[in-house]
Amino acid sequence: MTLSINEVYNEDCLKGLDQLEPETVDLLLTDPPFGIDFHKMGSQYNRLQRELGRDYIEVQEQDYYDFTLQWLQSAWRAMKPTASGFIFSGWNRLGDILNAITEIGFRLVNHIIWKYQFGVFTKKKFVSSHYHILYITKLPEKNDRLRTFNRIPEYSSSPGKLYFEDVWRINRDYQKGGEKTPTRLPLAVTDKCVRIGSNEGDLVLEPFLGSGSVVLSCIQYNRHYVGFEISEPIFNIAKNRIKRVKEQLGEKTDNLESWLKKTKK
Ligand SMILES: C[S@@+](CC[C@H](N)C(=O)[O-])C[C@H]1O[C@@H](n2cnc3c(N)ncnc32)[C@H](O)[C@@H]1O
Repeated sequence: MTLSINEVYNEDCLKGLDQLEPETVDLLLTDPPFGIDFHKMGSQYNRLQRELGRDYIEVQEQDYYDFTLQWLQSAWRAMKPTASGFIFSGWNRLGDILNAITEIGFRLVNHIIWKYQFGVFTKKKFVSSHYHILYITKLPEKNDRLRTFNRIPEYSSSPGKLYFEDVWRINRDYQKGGEKTPTRLPLAVTDKCVRIGSNEGDLVLEPFLGSGSVVLSCIQYNRHYVGFEISEPIFNIAKNRIKRVKEQLGEKTDNLESWLKKTKK
């Protein structure tokens, strides 16, 4: 199968990523499965199994490192030498992701803390109210000037100055009824990553679509995208959200061939 850009696929990304043209992706922006048992741990993340239902596909704890190495290696192959990435992680498997990043050869630029409002009470431990976002690049330090980092004033922590802090205070959305997906990232977070880490016309890769927030930000800000989601019911939720946003905003269509010609000019 040949992949198109501006398309999402109901497919295992371990298969899909290897079908991408090498060195075409400008930005990896992804929220991979957490590799935790949600029956025991989900409440810490306000992601209860009964809400996740049977649809969310998780990776077993003992397989997590090999799984991470595999998809990240394939993502590396698909990424341009100048590409960057934002990878979301809870704290439980963070060590595995950090080790895989280093083993593959990515460079860690920032370790961002996304602080959100907490939703669950705990009696004998601290309530989790943050995620980790690892900002990485393929570029070695000596070529770091080639990295895209758009200094957008509205994200500055200090009005009138361009300071960008590595703690982001952004609330989670409260979703009511309908197509509820508790792992959904708020668009305020995905918008920020897309706008700072890529330029208009760039190609953004999301191997673990979930409900598709990354793609919605791409459409909003004129980035190309390609994404995978293994679970059919969750994929259908993403498809519906994308369809609705495309209808609202319209979308410039492009095909892979003409896009590649333009980017290789
Ligand atoms: C943490 S969620 C992503 C949530 C997403 N950021 C959102 O805004 O809704 C991870 C997703 O990866 C999917 N997944 C798990 N293994 C996968 C695989 N091998 N290939 C593609 N998707 C996979 C899960 O079904 C789940 O929907």
